[in-house]
Amino acid sequence: MSLLEDGTDMHRTHLMAPGPTPVPERARLAMARQLIHHRGEEFKEVMHRVRRGLEWLFETDSDVLMLSCSGTGAFEAAMTNFTRRGDTVICVGGGKFGERWGDVARAFEMNVVDIDLQWGEHLEPSRLEEVLDAHPDAAMVTLTASETSTAVMHPVRQLASVVRQNSTALFAVDGITAVGVHRMPMDQWGIDVLVAGSQKAFGIPPGLGFVAASERAWKRYDDCDHPRYYFDLGRERRRQQDNQTAFTSSISLTLALQEVLEMMRQEGREELIQRHETNAAATRAGVEALGLSLLSSRHSNAVTAVVLPDEIDGAELVERLRTDHGVIIAGGQKHLSGKLIRIGHIGFFESADIRLTLGAVEEVLNQMGLDSEPGAALTAAQRVFVQQR
Ligand SMILES: Cc1ncc(COP(=O)(O)O)c(C=O)c1O
Repeated sequence: MSLLEDGTDMHRTHLMAPGPTPVPERARLAMARQLIHHRGEEFKEVMHRVRRGLEWLFETDSDVLMLSCSGTGAFEAAMTNFTRRGDTVICVGGGKFGERWGDVARAFEMNVVDIDLQWGEHLEPSRLEEVLDAHPDAAMVTLTASETSTAVMHPVRQLASVVRQNSTALFAVDGITAVGVHRMPMDQWGIDVLVAGSQKAFGIPPGLGFVAASERAWKRYDDCDHPRYYFDLGRERRRQQDNQTAFTSSISLTLALQEVLEMMRQEGREELIQRHETNAAATRAGVEALGLSLLSSRHSNAVTAVVLPDEIDGAELVERLRTDHGVIIAGGQKHLSGKLIRIGHIGFFESADIRLTLGAVEEVLNQMGLDSEPGAALTAAQRVFVQQR
């Protein structure tokens, strides 16, 4: 037991959820600094560096706008700045966040065409082609690249090319658990709108949403007729091109962002992606070695969704991991509540974090009645780490 009687943790808490993720020390120290003024020269220099870093990560020549909101605010901004009222929007579902795009579109009275997928399934490009053929007037296609509720990674590159070849619709992608985990070269792949959030691969606290848009998308902005004020991306773009934000900046978060973007650059983009791939492969190998199966038909490297046997209660497993080991993972969402666990490996994680988590998961599962060879998960994960070196 690592808990004191008052419920506080006397050791460390291991935040292994698919966001928010642990914050690296450099970023924590940056946030502890006395505030600087957001209209001063020093902040402008910070913004300049942050903007270059975001463009590097999104692999784009377009502006990556930084908004003071969580990821969903950036979704909403994408919808209200790049579509017109009543436009047809094709929303790819198959999970809580893909379906949320549909909810946002409905809230703004768009004509929504849902592509329903079973949770855990990815979208085949041929199915998108059929839906686009049936809706030639579609103004936007929305997709959650890495669906955090199911651990599915959709084939974004192929889907982008289907949208480009078969319609004039904009392709808007929620990259909240994809950017910084998988390559997302938005210009090269023809993604029109790409959204991200600070509490995921960036490893800083929630509170910043990012949105980048192609020139095609900005052309639509000019005729857009949705009411908007705070999230007017045209005004925000003009201000950010001058290394300012339209309203008071999230100063401390921006200082932290500067640090983690620098850490990512020091690590290298390919290395960053590779580290996520290795940690994800080791996690998947570990749980599969316990005889458990994965929910996703095509895997995200941000999170692993593990289907539990009927006799194991997922909520109890998550709770025991927290109280007995200080390991925080997530359970299933909506109809999968209690039936799944989701282990996050998005952010600044090392192989040691994966070993610790798998060791705890294996131990608690064994205590809850799962029969497996002690060390099976760790051995399988270790094999992946050794092969990657
Ligand atoms: C893929 C994905 N999209 C959207 C969201 C919602 O983002 P937020 O909670 O930052 O608004 C999340 C949050 O977990 C997510 O994982």
